[in-house]
This record gives sequence, C-alpha cells and structure tokens, in this order.
Amino acid sequence: ASEETNLVYARSLIRTIQDYPQPGVAFRDITPLLGDGKALRAVAHGLLDQASTSFDVVAGIEARGFIFAGAVAAIADTGMLPIRKAGKLPVPAHQISYDKEYGPDTLEVSPELKPGMRVLLIDDILATGGTLKAGADLIELAGAQVAGVGVVMELEGLGGRRVMPQTQALFTM
Ligand code: HPA
Repeated sequence: ASEETNLVYARSLIRTIQDYPQPGVAFRDITPLLGDGKALRAVAHGLLDQASTSFDVVAGIEARGFIFAGAVAAIADTGMLPIRKAGKLPVPAHQISYDKEYGPDTLEVSPELKPGMRVLLIDDILATGGTLKAGADLIELAGAQVAGVGVVMELEGLGGRRVMPQTQALFTM
C-alpha cells in the first residue's frame, strides 16, 4: 500500500473515548495505533517525511512524545533526546517552568543537547501548545535550534496553532 493509504489506516486506529478523563471531553487515544506495526511505521515515516529541514537529533516530550521521537530517530539514523518532567533525569542541564491547566510544571533536558544542535521536536498531540512551546523554549535556552516541530495529531479549537504556528501535524481532528 502507498504511504498515504497507510497513513489513512493509521488515523483510523486513533480511538475516541467520550467523557474521559472528564465529562464533555472526547479523548483521542493512540494506544490502538501503537499496537499496530503498519500504523506505527507509517506514522514514524510520516513524521520524518514532513520535517522540511535537516536536523541532528530528535527530541521527544515525556511521555508519549518519547515513543514517536524514538521511532523517528531510529529511521532517520540520529539520536533521540528525552525532554522530561522535572526530577527524572539524573543529569539535568537546563530546565524551564511553564503554566499548565492545573498549575506550573517544569521540563528538563540532559547535557547531550549541545549548543548549535538542530533539533526536530516531536510530541503526540498539539492541543493548547503549552507543553510544545516550553519544549521549544528549552531547546533555545540550551543554545540549540528548533529545526522543526512535528506532532501526530492536532486537536483543533484549542488554540495550539496560534501558540506553535510552525507545527507540522500528520492528522487534524
Ligand atoms: N488525547 C490525549 N491527550 C490529550 C488530549 C486527547 O484528546 N487532549 C489533550 N491532551
């Protein structure tokens, strides 16, 4: 099947759970997509193909961003850099705090992120854009460059595109 056909198939495996985790929310669950080899491969290649510039490393945001960043790095032949919640990395080099829905949160990165590196930043979802923006700011704080920003899906109507207009999304929902 063509790449396009495989991506249509991958999108069909995103499951919508009504009223999770709260009434009124339609939660997009990627677990069925992750469990399917053809779908996971198509998404990894899609994320790599939509990156329009060269990069040195793929950064993924905890936790679901790790999965896709690792898959992209493996096929791009680059390393993968975890951007983690505060307190998880034994050797944090840089950190950034930002406001989330229920209070402040902090992200950290290890010293493998070097000044001048060109980073492809990956997460699963663009929602409000707050976490992706913090990830991008953290990369720049380290003296590195955001070469591209990619997500599996963009949730429309949450304002994320205004916060992170450079984001490339494989699927819009
Ligand atoms: N699914 C997964 N994560 C999310 C969602 C969703 O629908 N909305 C905000 N974060």
